[in-house]
Amino acid sequence: MPLMTPPAISPASSLTPAPNDATKAADNIIYLNGVAKSYMAEGRMVNALQGVNLDVPRGQFLAIVGRSGCGKSTLLNLLGGLDKPSTGKVQVNGLDLAHLNEAQLTQYRRDVVGIIFQFFNLLPLLSVLENTALPALLAGQEKRKSHARAAELLNAVGLGERMQQQASLLSGGEMQRVAVARALINDPQLILADEPTGNLDSKSAEPVLNALYNLTKQENKTVVMVTHSREAAAIADVTREMRDGKFV
Ligand SMILES: Nc1ncnc2c1ncn2[C@@H]1O[C@H](COP(=O)(O)OP(=O)(O)OP(=O)(O)O)[C@@H](O)[C@H]1O
Ligand SMILES: [Mg+2]
Repeated sequence: MPLMTPPAISPASSLTPAPNDATKAADNIIYLNGVAKSYMAEGRMVNALQGVNLDVPRGQFLAIVGRSGCGKSTLLNLLGGLDKPSTGKVQVNGLDLAHLNEAQLTQYRRDVVGIIFQFFNLLPLLSVLENTALPALLAGQEKRKSHARAAELLNAVGLGERMQQQASLLSGGEMQRVAVARALINDPQLILADEPTGNLDSKSAEPVLNALYNLTKQENKTVVMVTHSREAAAIADVTREMRDGKFV
């Protein structure tokens, strides 16, 4: 399969923290202040987020719960630099995301955050190892190094024996453990997970949650996980509930 040419962007070190917020940034990897997001849908205004304030200390595993439509995915999209707030400040790892240009945002998404979605998003014809290493190759990392790091992460999530298999042969729970390993391949500071076990029964969900928790603690990452499941929220250090576009 032909690989995409990595975008011509500058090295990670060019993403420097916003100077005014240097002190806050050192304490909290996430700092949101008065964040609102509205959508215009079919002529109607939807206020998906309505004044979100949030501080997340580095290394915390945070679970966000709340009814369908309360704004959880919208919030994760803002944290992932996939969308912009209508108003308010989104600061991650010392970076005010509003101040980043497109090239810097691309770099931010690639180097600072790792994302795990509900549906595994693996490439079915690639091996487990190739899927895990792919984001590193796209970032311009050497193949040998990427594969070595991918193998290490796959061992950590208990899939060391399955590395050479085609991804399509795995069970849903196994695929999601690959997604956990893949999210960590570029050594991001922040892991965002939107319903990572939403498509799994509780028996297959458990090893995924354990892998996510253990690996991110071991690597000293911060995690923001959206979930509907009580069992999933139970593994988090802190659980916060959203209602009508803000935290309760
Ligand atoms: N791109 C969009 N355009 C218009 N409305 C949107 C868009 N994205 C989200 N919304 C609306 O914003 C509100 C919040 O959506 P969001 O996806 O954040 O909810 P959620 O809490 O993740 O829900 P779920 O638990 O069902 O995934 C909803 O009313 C949704 O319809
Ligand atoms: Mg959602």
